[in-house]
Amino acid sequence: MRIHILTLFPGMFHGPLSESVIQRAVDKGLVQIGIHDIRDHTHDTHHTADDYQYGGGPGMVIKPEPIFEATQNALSNHSAEERLDIPVILLSPQGRRLRQPVAEELAQRTGIVLICGRYEGVDERIREHLATDEISIGDYVLTGGELAAMVIVDSVVRLIPGVVGSAESVEGDSLTTGLLQHPLYTRPQMHEDLEVPPILLSGNHKEIALWRRQQALLRTLQRRPDLLEEATLTREDLKFLTGHGYKRI
Ligand code: 6GU
Repeated sequence: MRIHILTLFPGMFHGPLSESVIQRAVDKGLVQIGIHDIRDHTHDTHHTADDYQYGGGPGMVIKPEPIFEATQNALSNHSAEERLDIPVILLSPQGRRLRQPVAEELAQRTGIVLICGRYEGVDERIREHLATDEISIGDYVLTGGELAAMVIVDSVVRLIPGVVGSAESVEGDSLTTGLLQHPLYTRPQMHEDLEVPPILLSGNHKEIALWRRQQALLRTLQRRPDLLEEATLTREDLKFLTGHGYKRI
């Protein structure tokens, strides 16, 4: 997969994408990440990427030409067939919300283009005539799309086969199953007077799996009951939840 990030602040990406899982994925050739400086696609002497808004008002708006040019430049490295499979995603608080299924869908693509907005916003023609998708990472305002782009890259890259150690560790994730994750324990068995639930030491794999499933259900019921509406639940799950006060809405 090739990920193209268009930004006015390329320096922001150096640390976060050069560590740990993402860097290893790049080193293994499982993903290529290109950081494209929008300013390289301005052609006036002052390299102007933003301007005042028509109609008046505070704040600056990113100009269309450098974003269109930078996007075309990024896509020019791909065949016509590949381009059809590469979404051009505008990052903005107005976009559809990033959730695990969105990351799963993006992880299937040949490539993705991420356009980081800044300031008050971007010229509407970018949204209407260039972007094929618009994503927000949550209901709060960031100073720009850069941090959101990093969140998307992280959530997508770890889903590419071979990036995270075992497929199981991805499949068991919180939210991949539509539920929050069950509690985890490691050694020591006793930390001061705090013990590990004995069931986990029992060696009874069937009982352990049941306990984990029930813990995930309980935790989701207590903290994120909204997720239960979309989760795939068995008859046993529903019986367990109902016994703990769950009522389907
Ligand atoms: Cl993608 N951009 C900005 N500026 N703020 C956000 C966001 C994106 N997602 C949540 N807040």
